[in-house]
Amino acid sequence: MHTIIKDKLIEVEGLHFVNYLSHEKIQEKVRTLAEFISIDYKHKDLVCLVVLNGAFMFGSDLLRNLDIGCEIYFVNAKSYIGMESGDLKLQIPDDLLIESRDILLIEDIIDSGNTIFHLKNNLKKYHPHSIRLASLLSKPEMHKHEIEIDYLGFEIPNKFVIGYGLDYNHQGRNLKDIYQLREDISE
Ligand code: IMP
Ligand code: MG
Repeated sequence: MHTIIKDKLIEVEGLHFVNYLSHEKIQEKVRTLAEFISIDYKHKDLVCLVVLNGAFMFGSDLLRNLDIGCEIYFVNAKSYIGMESGDLKLQIPDDLLIESRDILLIEDIIDSGNTIFHLKNNLKKYHPHSIRLASLLSKPEMHKHEIEIDYLGFEIPNKFVIGYGLDYNHQGRNLKDIYQLREDISE
């Protein structure tokens, strides 16, 4: 569980996180991204693939702000254990038809870029017409692969963040705002 220490400061398992991006700021950005996507895919066969678990909140806000129709699927991608990036496990839905279609991947954050790199390569085998990427956050310093982010919310420094779907050991996901790790505060 997270504990609110005082306004804008929370604690999870002895770690402190400070308020970094407000819900209002996130919502404003989400609406802008949704507008761009709605224009770009207006007459296209849009297929959205939300990368779970982290992108569930960004995905639901982004998708409800689109003013075009689309199909929505979810893919499970797990790589993080605590704050360590581990082996990647991917599960592409069986009923997702990819060939000749316009796929939009929806991610919470591009860190090393491993998840998206492998997911994109996997999907390309099924010959989509296009694959684009929407990500709320990106840590450019950490990218290990050349990743083109077609719809990006915010570039952030290399500090662990939680909230708005992002977790630390499954905690903090339900926070409305995004919080950044403060390494200078200990218990
Ligand atoms: P990747 O290193 O780009 O493959 O990132 C893998 C996944 O790790 C992301 O989609 C997130 O779900 C998670 N992740 C990366 N950085 C953070 C962070 O700062 N906080 C919480 N989750 C993160
Ligand atoms: Mg993710």
